[in-house]
Amino acid sequence: MKHLNVPVNRRSFVKSGLTAATVGAGLLYPSASVLAHGDSEERSGRLDKGDSAILRFLAAAEILETDLWQQYNELGGIPDSEVPGGSGNPTYTAALAVLDADMAQYIHDNTEDELTHEVFINAYLESKGADTVNLDQFRTLPSSKATGAQQIGRLTNLMQLTVDTSWWTRYRSGDKNPDFGDAFDQAVPSLSKGQHPAIPRDDDDLTPNDHIQAIANTAGFHFGTIEQGGTSLYPQLAQRVTNSEVLRIVLSIGPTEAMHFQTWSDKAGNARALTDPKDPSLVFPDLNSSPFGGEEFQTNLIMPEPTIFLSRKLPTCSIVRPTATKGAAMGALKFLTDMGLFIGQSPAFFELMRDLAEDADDARR
Ligand SMILES: [Fe+2]
Ligand SMILES: [Fe+2]
Repeated sequence: MKHLNVPVNRRSFVKSGLTAATVGAGLLYPSASVLAHGDSEERSGRLDKGDSAILRFLAAAEILETDLWQQYNELGGIPDSEVPGGSGNPTYTAALAVLDADMAQYIHDNTEDELTHEVFINAYLESKGADTVNLDQFRTLPSSKATGAQQIGRLTNLMQLTVDTSWWTRYRSGDKNPDFGDAFDQAVPSLSKGQHPAIPRDDDDLTPNDHIQAIANTAGFHFGTIEQGGTSLYPQLAQRVTNSEVLRIVLSIGPTEAMHFQTWSDKAGNARALTDPKDPSLVFPDLNSSPFGGEEFQTNLIMPEPTIFLSRKLPTCSIVRPTATKGAAMGALKFLTDMGLFIGQSPAFFELMRDLAEDADDARR
């Protein structure tokens, strides 16, 4: 257990409500000797140690997801009592609406969903007397300066993204699967290189029209990229859950990520083909025309194409991909880090996230 070597004070933010001052670090953190006995239950709770580690990693992932969706909602969604904060940016909202007239509603609803995932998982952990996750001390990254955004510290950076759009062809392939080591073409090759804003950084980003449209298009693909990640993460981790109630939680939240992904997969196909006038290296191709088009790119092919699963000897099957469980939490952390979502975060942030991911990946049934 790697976390046993971690000084108490570094892990002290994996908590909510309780503080060392009120409860005492010695009580909150079981000593190495206690855990080294191989207790299958947390010292202070009734959850299996692996299950609580999986739930803590998922809580952290959901906190990060909520933070990024919150930024989208402030500028391009519907700030309201369900998802408060920000006042909307009409120009960005209109550019998003090119992908679908209901984009603002979908952004709002996705944001609310992530918020409830985060709050529920932490509350469940707390109800079982297990450690919870609080990342508040890392809310240090700058907000967009564009009209409509709150000026508060953020956990995530949506202004320097490198967006992996290979899920587009991965879910359209009928003979490849990432769990077999296969690689997939990008739908928008230039988004997968360099750094691109997915929200206006300031009001200068609102013009000219094709520039703010390029930013909205980037968001449109980023939505799919994020949610396909969650669609894989839950089934990946579910395979190592022990308790049936924890399994029920993971199996009940996971498919809502797939519902998000399905929606965004459809909307991204409506991104208008263009070249960003302020960054000519960023090109959104017409995915229905040569050299794109066909089974791999055609925009109305939004259902998962049946593909190989488990063994090439078995028939193809329509499935989520990838779902291999080994190293899934660390893989998810790398995926989020590689997209630039944490550019500007402190070494302590990465250390904590690695720690949570390693503990989740150590979980066994
Ligand atoms: Fe979620
Ligand atoms: Fe999600």
